Amino acid sequence: AMALTLAACGGSGAGETTDDATNTAGGDSGETFRVGVAMPTQTSERWIADGDAVKSQLEELGYEVDLQFGNDDIPTQSQQIDQMITNGADLLIVAAIDGTALAGQLQTAADNGIATIAYDRLIRDSENVDFYVTFDNYQVGVQQATSLLVGLGLLNEDGSEGDATGPFNIELFAGSPDDNNAGFFFNGAMSVLQPLIDDGTLVVTSGQTDFDTVAILRWQQETAQKRMEDLLTSTYSSGAKVQGVLSPYDGLSRGIITALQNAGYSGTTADGFPIVTGQDAEIASVKLIADGVQFSTIFKDTRKLATQAVTAAGEILAGGEPTANDTETYDNG
Ligand code: GAL
Repeated sequence: AMALTLAACGGSGAGETTDDATNTAGGDSGETFRVGVAMPTQTSERWIADGDAVKSQLEELGYEVDLQFGNDDIPTQSQQIDQMITNGADLLIVAAIDGTALAGQLQTAADNGIATIAYDRLIRDSENVDFYVTFDNYQVGVQQATSLLVGLGLLNEDGSEGDATGPFNIELFAGSPDDNNAGFFFNGAMSVLQPLIDDGTLVVTSGQTDFDTVAILRWQQETAQKRMEDLLTSTYSSGAKVQGVLSPYDGLSRGIITALQNAGYSGTTADGFPIVTGQDAEIASVKLIADGVQFSTIFKDTRKLATQAVTAAGEILAGGEPTANDTETYDNG
């Protein structure tokens, strides 16, 4: 994911392009462009960091910024975007809570000549998405699954075959079904895990392997904890031990770890605590990794994502069209 992000950053420089945009705006009319930035939640530190990074980078270029967090509540986010439009936004940068719930807002925006950039999460079922910035989400899933195999000893860190042979008991979790990214993470992970499930090296003891069954609505930590508790009671009460858990996001990972600890799993991964993956490198999880409790996370440098969004915003506001480095992977319907 990092490599692809860096590659994505190889395009035109944010400073250069957006400076032009600011100058054009100032020179023509003295107007300062207003950018509405809608982020999904403040319960996860990554979105706070994303919001701050987008805001400060836009402000450095002279734009006015209206940054709002939607509390993981769809009506709240819809109202915030309506308000941004009413307040005269010239452009919107949106990380959607529910990728299919904003078509109405985007239509109003388009009717008012306001462009929309989808930020990290694709907005679906709307023709009014002007640009999309994200990471290589499929590859994130591949990396999560690969790390699970490393934790179990099936692979070494350099990718060579490990000493372990299995079979290992694992369980699978996926992200929010209304977040377009969740399917990419899951499919990427399953591209690695499915062959090992098929040949018996990995056993999903609960039998729960389809996306809809393992998905956690709104990426909620409590929901993940509850599902893990239910799995431990229903599937692992007669002595079998879970040895690995695919988790697509640190918040879920911490819920899963709490459930495991409450059920008597203890210690560190070095002495048998189940291998739990993650994503976002949230500080609470980085600490758990340092303590040997969570096995891994995926770090995505969201400052670079912010730079991509700000670059695209500058190009659009200057009347140009941002350049995409991928026109194949994502289809918003
Ligand atoms: C996804 C994002 C992940 C994680 C998750 C939960 O859309 O790609 O990095 O942050 O949301 O917030």
